[in-house]
Amino acid sequence: MDHFEYRDGVLYGEEVPLTRIADEFGTPCYVYSRATLARHFRAYSEALGSHPHLICYAVKANSNLAVLGLLARMGAGFDIVSMGELERVLAAGGDPARVVFSGVAKQEAEMARALEVGIKCFNVESRPELERLDAVAGRLGKIAPVSLRVNPDVNAGTHPYISTGLKDNKFGIPVDEALAVYQFAATLPNVRITGLDCHIGSQLTELSPFLDALERLLALLERLRERGIEVQHLDLGGGLGVPYRDERPPAPFDYATALLERLARWPGSEHLTLLFEPGRSIAANAGILLTRVEYLKPGETKNFAIVDAGMNDLIRPALYQAWQAILAVDTRQPRDTATYDVVGPVCETGDFLGKERMLAIAAGDLLAVRSAGAYGFVMASNYNSRPRPAEVMVAGDTAHLVRRRERLEALWAGEALLPDDEEAH
Ligand code: LLP
Repeated sequence: MDHFEYRDGVLYGEEVPLTRIADEFGTPCYVYSRATLARHFRAYSEALGSHPHLICYAVKANSNLAVLGLLARMGAGFDIVSMGELERVLAAGGDPARVVFSGVAKQEAEMARALEVGIKCFNVESRPELERLDAVAGRLGKIAPVSLRVNPDVNAGTHPYISTGLKDNKFGIPVDEALAVYQFAATLPNVRITGLDCHIGSQLTELSPFLDALERLLALLERLRERGIEVQHLDLGGGLGVPYRDERPPAPFDYATALLERLARWPGSEHLTLLFEPGRSIAANAGILLTRVEYLKPGETKNFAIVDAGMNDLIRPALYQAWQAILAVDTRQPRDTATYDVVGPVCETGDFLGKERMLAIAAGDLLAVRSAGAYGFVMASNYNSRPRPAEVMVAGDTAHLVRRRERLEALWAGEALLPDDEEAH
């Protein structure tokens, strides 16, 4: 459930009509709902009840400081994949002791900074990374807490670009090799084994791949135990899907219940802290992209609704053929209904937000692209020299500008002309 609903024919974000946001902040513009973010976060923490747990929100899904700050105040931890994400978490008031660091290509400087601020854990994805981390920690006189990200080789049944837990993917350590790598880790002087981690993919709509992965991780924990290696936490990654259209993914409650049921049969599980790294399931349906129709262009075979947001603002439809609902914001005026491809201003045929959508619209109308709170703004680019959109967070009857629209000068800030050169004349 989210807090974007029609009232008397106008789409609202919480108590704020989206028409007002467009008037005040312009379009295109991302709008997030604070109550929805909070509700989604609580769905996880309440589902886990008294079992020791930490919800490490995946910063990559939506890294706006207002989003991170809200979740930090609610007690969230964070899953980061870069120094930039770490600094954002710190800038938003997040607790470094609740940060886990994922990613296949951690650089020395990133490791050093994470050790300096004292993160909870490095999710190590390979043996060479372990060696590098040991060396960096040794130089700094620190002990690095680690969990190994294992690749359990389960099919998440999701889009191939966002499936990460198969043998063929670049992520994690194959589950069959993990035992040896753990034993190697145990010999390193500057790392301390604290956990076991996996992340099998994103937008999962079934529980069975998660449970299959859990089964493989528990089997591995068993073997580690036999060799005297104990972990304090089990990190199951992110990946729970959301309804974009007619998907019916399990709710966090069902997910947590199924996991806890299985874990209850595992000796010692009450001391095993559960970590999760949800991104999409917290942020996606807590946001929309607000855009205005510039032109309607009827055609022989297709009608186009040309809007002021493009693939540079929201790339998911172009990149993954993702389907996101598109709604007219103000339905009070009578309009003819027609089927449109909703396309952006970018000079690419792939620049669409939705295809074959039935809409009752006229030029100048506002549209809302739903489920845009995750992997929306964070994947925006400046292609076609288009400034990135504004971001607004509604909270009750107030709309807060949480990132102003990028200014034109920002597009070339940091660039330089060549020095005057005779040969150019
Ligand atoms: N943890 C790790 C290690 C991850 O790689 C990811 C996402 C997450 C957690 C969060 O997963 P979530 O709960 O959001 O499914 N851009 C794509 C999604 C890429 C996901 C990458 N990894 C999209 O727009 O669909």
